[in-house]
Amino acid sequence: MNDRNMKIWAVEKAELAAGAEEAVTAIGEAAVVLQNGGIVAFPTETVYGLGADARDTGAVERIFQAKGRPSDNPLIVHIAEMEQLEQIVLPYGEVAKRLMLRFWPGPLTIVLPAREGAVSPRVTAGLDTVAVRMPDHVTALRLIAVSGCPIAAPSANRSGRPSPTRAAHVEEDLAGRIDGLVDSGPTGVGLESTVVEITEDGEAVRILRPGGIALEALREVVPVTPDSTVESVEQAAADKSGSPAGQEASAPRSPGMKYAHYAPQGAMQLVIGEPAAVRARIQDEVDAAQRRGEKTGVLTYTEHAPYYRADVVLASGSLTRLESAAQGLYAALREFDTHGVQAIWAEACPQEGIGHALMNRLSKAAGHRFIRV
Ligand code: TXA
Ligand code: MG
Repeated sequence: MNDRNMKIWAVEKAELAAGAEEAVTAIGEAAVVLQNGGIVAFPTETVYGLGADARDTGAVERIFQAKGRPSDNPLIVHIAEMEQLEQIVLPYGEVAKRLMLRFWPGPLTIVLPAREGAVSPRVTAGLDTVAVRMPDHVTALRLIAVSGCPIAAPSANRSGRPSPTRAAHVEEDLAGRIDGLVDSGPTGVGLESTVVEITEDGEAVRILRPGGIALEALREVVPVTPDSTVESVEQAAADKSGSPAGQEASAPRSPGMKYAHYAPQGAMQLVIGEPAAVRARIQDEVDAAQRRGEKTGVLTYTEHAPYYRADVVLASGSLTRLESAAQGLYAALREFDTHGVQAIWAEACPQEGIGHALMNRLSKAAGHRFIRV
């Protein structure tokens, strides 16, 4: 699997934090590749990112090529220190400051007014804003700091595939297409960062993409507008029960939200309702599909897995700790592909905490096909 053209550095988080020579040397080598216009995948606390110097248009262009990413979808710029922020954004208000103080480093991306010419226009896709975050991961922070570059990094997957939560996922998608990969083991959160923008009056935030920082946690710090994506996903599920794939309920303000995402190769449907009814319906659907000769899959939770008979039954994690389901979701979606599963039914989860982000990714993986029972 290891491609000769791609350098892989194994870096233990604890060793890097303790200043172990091998780990420090590895980060130094990866940083040099970035400084020289290379593209390097690295872990963050959410998912693996594919990084390049955000000021280097040629390097950023290579990210889009490696991923097969549509060029109108802007990238997040990753920073390691607040001094880097001032170089890439214009002065911002109180709400943004409160968010940074509370959630950085961490899985929150804030869309801010861009300082003209500070990062490549390929990063912002020509917008006058730039999305920034400071990841909470020692490998990411050291790599950014040592390179001295603001690092533009989308998730390190081929466009349309589930985001990588392990180094092996990056290899699966990008071996031979990128210059290097820093492997620090599985990521923690497992879903991408929450993306927010500040509302026009400067008083609140709008959630453009639910993620690692929950709606409830944001609300403790700043007002959150009701037209945020978290609410519209719930609306979409209610509106479109049983209907085929389509657009999201509201026009996407974050360009990336309009693209198909996270999808396994098999056709997936998301089943919503009372747990017993959901289980019965899924089993009926599986039985019917098996009679048609299809290879079937069920995506469930540890507690419910024993109830199902299907070709492949996978639990993303535990219902009593939805964080574990977030952590395991993308690996499970990839595993269905490994087994060549053709039809998948996924159980919905409660929409609280990380459950908002989990439901957002599940509905995208299902192409917004819902069954409400
Ligand atoms: O956790 C994460 O956010 C990961 C890790 C690697 O940091 N990154 C990630 O990047 O998920 P990506 O490129 O897959 O998603 C970036 C999202 C897209 O939905 C994009 O449209 C949005 O952020 N975005 C970027 N710049 C924006 C801007 N100026 N205004 C609005 N949305 C923006
Ligand atoms: Mg992505």
